[in-house]
Amino acid sequence: MSARHLVVTGGAGFIGSAFVHHVIEHTDDTVTVVDSLTYAGNLASLEDLPSNRVRLEVEDIADAAAMDRIIRGADAVVHFAAESHNDNSLDDPSPFVQTNLIGTFTLLESVRRHGVRLHHISTDEVYGDLALDDPQRFTETTPYNPSSPYSATKAGSDLLVRAWVRSFGVQATLSNCSNNYGPRQHVEKFIPRQITNLIDGIRPKLYGAGLNVRDWIHAEDHSSAVLRILEAGEIGQTYLIGADGEKNNRQVVELILQLMGHDVHDYEHVADRAGHDLRYAIDATRLRNELGWEPAFADFETGLAATIDWYRDNEQWWRPQKAATEAKYQKVGQ
Ligand code: NAD
Ligand code: DAU
Repeated sequence: MSARHLVVTGGAGFIGSAFVHHVIEHTDDTVTVVDSLTYAGNLASLEDLPSNRVRLEVEDIADAAAMDRIIRGADAVVHFAAESHNDNSLDDPSPFVQTNLIGTFTLLESVRRHGVRLHHISTDEVYGDLALDDPQRFTETTPYNPSSPYSATKAGSDLLVRAWVRSFGVQATLSNCSNNYGPRQHVEKFIPRQITNLIDGIRPKLYGAGLNVRDWIHAEDHSSAVLRILEAGEIGQTYLIGADGEKNNRQVVELILQLMGHDVHDYEHVADRAGHDLRYAIDATRLRNELGWEPAFADFETGLAATIDWYRDNEQWWRPQKAATEAKYQKVGQ
């Protein structure tokens, strides 16, 4: 395949930057990262990329003129930019409505004007949650039933994309992925919070009883799936991305404690999240069968051990955010 020019929104965030690294390593493509560098964007995540293939535009995706300038002439837009943290959406939903809904609307209008292909990144949370003993997992036909302000705005953004495909012929694909882990994830999120707490001598914190289940996938596997959909996905289709990684939060915390050389029971229970979804689980059969995708990080423990090493080796990356993040959690008893 000849080299493309990709616009990657949210490319200074956790998964967006993993995707940019993946594209640079596995293709000849060039990339323009569009990122407004909110608290979640980190320039250090783009530091070691070749300047002749990756450039950064510090812009808000809700700025129509800036999006027109950047998107015109691109081969595709891969849209990761979002407000992404459920706890923040309970504290103040307004930036979630602005970026996830108005921002996505603005991008859709721009790709429509310029006839540019879009891939929209979304989440399994749009489907709501499952009972612990439900034999079903989420599929592409599961009805939408989001619980939090974050997941409701992501669900709304997905519906906008689908409507722009059907009504205006926009050339778009969508994917809904489960919980990602790996290097360069903000310390507000579950796994990096516990790893960096242990580095700082703080006990890991489990919301409620810790029995909520998440379906973990390495960000590198999310990236390879998105690249595969970009290359071979059918326009208008949704693909679920997951790697059969269901674990409850207690199991994850105990594994982190074990891998970091602590007593596996040395954690504490803190206030539960309001409206806390119980379980997510992805059936990625369509992606595997139709596009031949397979995850590379089959073993969660190996991927988690490497992630722990990354946080130990890259304290300068996460240290500036740690104290303010913990102060915010402390205020709400978490
Ligand atoms: P993140 O919070 O780490 O990164 C988001 C990035 O978007 C940041 O760099 C931020 O600066 C940028 N951004 C925010 N608002 C912007 C705006 N208005 N204009 C331009 N840039 C803006 O998020 P993440 O965890 O990397 O998630 C990326 C995408 O993947 C999101 O769409 C999220 O819904 C989706 N997703 C995340 C997960 C997960 O486990 N983290 C799982 C499935 C799907
Ligand atoms: O499922 C995909 C979603 O995964 C993405 O759409 C979101 O952007 C991403 O943030 C993530 O959402 P979660 O709410 O599942 O992730 P979080 O890391 O916030 O929490 C994971 C689980 O761990 C959840 O059940 C809450 C719990 N938790 C979280 C924190 C921060 C704790 O028990 N203790 C904690 O300190």
